[in-house]
Amino acid sequence: MKVTIVGAGNVGASCADVISYRGIASEVVLLDIKEGFAEGKAMDLMQCATNTGFNTVITGVTNDYSKTANSNVVVITSGIPRKPGMTREELIGINAGIVKTVADNVLTHSPNAIIVVVSNPMDTMTYLTLKATGLPKNRVIGMGGALDSSRFRYYLSRALDKPSNDVSAMVIGGHGDTTMIPLTRLASYNGIPVSEFLSEEELAKVAAATMVGGATLTGLLGTSAWYAPGASVAYLVDSILNDQKKMIACSVMLDGEYGQSDICIGVPCIIGKNGIEEILDITLNDAEKEKFAKSAEAVINMNEDLKSVLA
Ligand code: NAI
Ligand code: 2OP
Repeated sequence: MKVTIVGAGNVGASCADVISYRGIASEVVLLDIKEGFAEGKAMDLMQCATNTGFNTVITGVTNDYSKTANSNVVVITSGIPRKPGMTREELIGINAGIVKTVADNVLTHSPNAIIVVVSNPMDTMTYLTLKATGLPKNRVIGMGGALDSSRFRYYLSRALDKPSNDVSAMVIGGHGDTTMIPLTRLASYNGIPVSEFLSEEELAKVAAATMVGGATLTGLLGTSAWYAPGASVAYLVDSILNDQKKMIACSVMLDGEYGQSDICIGVPCIIGKNGIEEILDITLNDAEKEKFAKSAEAVINMNEDLKSVLA
């Protein structure tokens, strides 16, 4: 099983690290536009093999897509972060150009690959990838919900003072500070609703901390996070390559589910060897439905900025 990761930066390299350490794929190709960068990351990671005991072969290449041929999964993390003074439209324009070119290049060499989109604004970049490539919707998956859900579980575990792995919880909606929807009502501590243990006020604090989880880390680190994002992508890739059929919140093209169409946004999905194998259209209560509709509206507004790129 072969995985290509485009963008050997923080998230891409961290993802390669988890994939190799956990033996998720036999081959990982890291590709970057920066001369020698992916080669350096791959060499550094390969020098972990004897200490951590993995057998995955990691190769780094500078813009040479021929080395990515026949990948089963391609992860796109390439892009730039927003810089001071830059408008959201400018960022979308630049990243959309990068993501579109990258998607075309990878599909030339791996026509059957499943594409996992990570670059921000992720829901919009996932939508762009689908529209620009014409791929069937099961083969383009946006990663955001897996990360936001793991942050939600982290904040719940801290409030409960119990291990994260005993907490089950999911975040749906857009991958953004104001658009994500932590599903507090459905969160549980080993099957027991968390509302048995935490007050409404405590749960509201957990949800608020989750929603700004990425921004909190950016404030602390000076750039956006990479360990949990990389691990979240690896978790998703594992479910695809090993046909695990895990239920993961992913940004996917909706066709009537949750009352939305022609939009990529986070909803619970079954992820297996065919990519998105099922979208779970669960019943939301009125407050959740209202939040989802607002979130979708914000994502649709952002997609409007793609018009010139898709024209
Ligand atoms: P980074 O700056 O460390 O890495 C990005 C890499 O992409 C750089 O090495 C750069 O040289 C490369 N690159 C740029 N243009 C390229 C091209 N045309 N072809 C190949 N490589 C190219 O950034 P980081 O922290 O790894 O984040 C990557 C992206 O992922 C950003 O857009 C970030 O906002 C997003 N992100 C999304 C998350 C999610 O949950 N969806 C979570 C964390 C980050
Ligand atoms: C994150 O959530 C910025 O999408 C990035 O950490």
